[in-house]
Amino acid sequence: MTTTHDTAVAPAIAAQGLRKSYGGKVVLDGVDLTIPEGSVFALLGPNGAGKTTTVEILSTLIAPDGGRARIAGHDLVERPEGVRGAIGVTGQFAAVDGLLTAEENLLLMAALRHLPRPEGRRRTAELLDRLELTEAARKPVSTLSGGMRRKLDLAMTLVGKPRIIFLDEPTTGLDPRSRRTLWEIIRGLVDGEGVTIFLTTQYLEEADHLADRIAVLDRGRIVAEGTADELKRIVPGGHIRLRFADPAALDLAARRFGAAARDTEELTLRIPSDGGIPTLRAVLDVLDGAALQPESLTLHTPDLDDVFLTLTGTGAGAPNTTVEMAR
Ligand SMILES: Nc1ncnc2c1ncn2[C@@H]1O[C@H](COP(=O)(O)OP(=O)(O)O)[C@@H](O)[C@H]1O
Ligand SMILES: [Mg+2]
Repeated sequence: MTTTHDTAVAPAIAAQGLRKSYGGKVVLDGVDLTIPEGSVFALLGPNGAGKTTTVEILSTLIAPDGGRARIAGHDLVERPEGVRGAIGVTGQFAAVDGLLTAEENLLLMAALRHLPRPEGRRRTAELLDRLELTEAARKPVSTLSGGMRRKLDLAMTLVGKPRIIFLDEPTTGLDPRSRRTLWEIIRGLVDGEGVTIFLTTQYLEEADHLADRIAVLDRGRIVAEGTADELKRIVPGGHIRLRFADPAALDLAARRFGAAARDTEELTLRIPSDGGIPTLRAVLDVLDGAALQPESLTLHTPDLDDVFLTLTGTGAGAPNTTVEMAR
């Protein structure tokens, strides 16, 4: 066996110029993606942006009209069977048999994957336990809650121990608690086993919470890419807000912070900020230097909704995230 430097650093997924049209309608208009192994990548976009189409292309379900991609080192077009061997796909509308129990569905999947029966039983028991599905194991799938169904969908995908997992809107329609549970499970797969997750979502909060990197897809084009923090920094409007106990302290602070906006009634000072730690540190240093103790310090970071609004002109309209810091 030879291990070349190339394969050691090859990303899990690398795509260039993916295009797809249906009829005359352009759905993907040249999508480039590079996703390192062992990371969570979120493709974020509104309904109809082209998320599912991207997943379908990268998982070999449909062929692109143009562009190239390598998945786990295999060329999408030349080695589709190699791609399929490395990936698992949990679709937006998943295919489990509602009449069978969760356990039966998993055993069936193990058999389809040609696992020997004892191995299939072991894997099924392990997955039921790990995804907290033991309680649901003997119930027909049609009677399970939405959250349980999604976990079962994921368990079905995990039977084959894929190194790269595509999750198409894994938490759409779930209640907040089920969503958090799934997030923990997904994060655990990456941190514990080094799998690569490609997920699509309409939820800015989900991408923010879960993804190492985020690409914003809008009408078939990637309009921004980066970490959640990088995307937030694109957007103006971040600031640090200081509130003081009395007008004298406010006066003193206002003289030290040149660019700050002052609200004399509220006794606050609003200092422009990129949301970065160095800026915060500089503010704290100035306060210390002047022996000033504000009553409160609040960081106002623009959130991903603001990013969307700035990039596409179509925000989802949630309020800004604020991080309270007591002093
Ligand atoms: N098989 C298809 N035939 C025709 N149009 C399609 C087909 N699949 C998707 N589309 C269209 O492509 C666009 C993107 O769809 P999709 O990738 O499902 O978006 P998303 O998953 O981001 O909601 C939509 O306008 C959709 O109607
Ligand atoms: Mg979709």
